[in-house]
Amino acid sequence: MSSYENLKISQHGAVQRIFVNRPDKLNALNHATLTELHHAFDAAASDAETRVVVLTGSGDKAFVAGADISEIQSLSPSQAQDFAGHGHALMNKIQHFHKPVIAAINGFALGGGLELAMACHLRIAADTAKVGLPEIKLGIIPGFGGTQRLARYIGRSAALNLMLAGDPIGAERAYALGLVHRLAGADELETEALNWAEKLAQLAPIAVSHILQAVNQGADLNMEAALNLEVNLFALCCATEDMKEGTTAFLEKRKAEFKGR
Ligand code: COA
Repeated sequence: MSSYENLKISQHGAVQRIFVNRPDKLNALNHATLTELHHAFDAAASDAETRVVVLTGSGDKAFVAGADISEIQSLSPSQAQDFAGHGHALMNKIQHFHKPVIAAINGFALGGGLELAMACHLRIAADTAKVGLPEIKLGIIPGFGGTQRLARYIGRSAALNLMLAGDPIGAERAYALGLVHRLAGADELETEALNWAEKLAQLAPIAVSHILQAVNQGADLNMEAALNLEVNLFALCCATEDMKEGTTAFLEKRKAEFKGR
């Protein structure tokens, strides 16, 4: 496994954990960390052993406290475009990743940190976590997709309220808004995230990837094209050994053993 300056990676069977590992800077995303995350997700994509990724932050204080403000401070407008583009490419890579990615939000997920968590497919948060888009307090706007993903996830009105206040909200409020799917006690977060990931890892991987594709790609299409996409992906599932195994196992009243073929 590659070694990284700003990430830590650990493998637990079919589940790979990626830690953003700059705890003394509350895991803030500098340019180098964004680049390493690109590499880590490329490696996880082609790693046959990995079926699910859990993304989290090192230390007990932060998931990611945002893009690195010390780097943002000196950006010219054209450098800012490159920086935001680098972040967008990463968020898009995660959103369109063909294996499920769970964000385990272990503390502050602010600015780019919440944007990173929102690019993941699923989110579980420690009940002590705080999330928000505080960019307005720095005189900027969210630049890694936050203005768009937050509005699509919780609705335009609630998203505007959060972005224009700039204040973080607690995990329970985030759960009530549907921004996180599950809550866990801070001490149980790691175990709960791994248990969830292991359950996902037992599903038929091709069907899982087709659900991710149908929902993510379909959201950017008109209804007719999106439904055509679903038809085609459904048909592709029916070409798999896993489809035969899943349906046969149901009829034989036994647990299916999916092989990813
Ligand atoms: N970029 C760069 N450095 C950051 C950072 C960020 N987004 N968030 C935290 N840090 C650094 C701090 O500068 C500090 O570094 P130092 O020890 O060298 O001074 C270290 O991480 C610890 O942070 P600190 O602010 O001392 O912790 P705290 O517990 O008092 O406050 C937060 C925690 C999250 C409330 C506070 O760090 C914060 O507001 N961070 C910025 C959040 C933000 O605006 N994010 C959006 C960025 S676009």
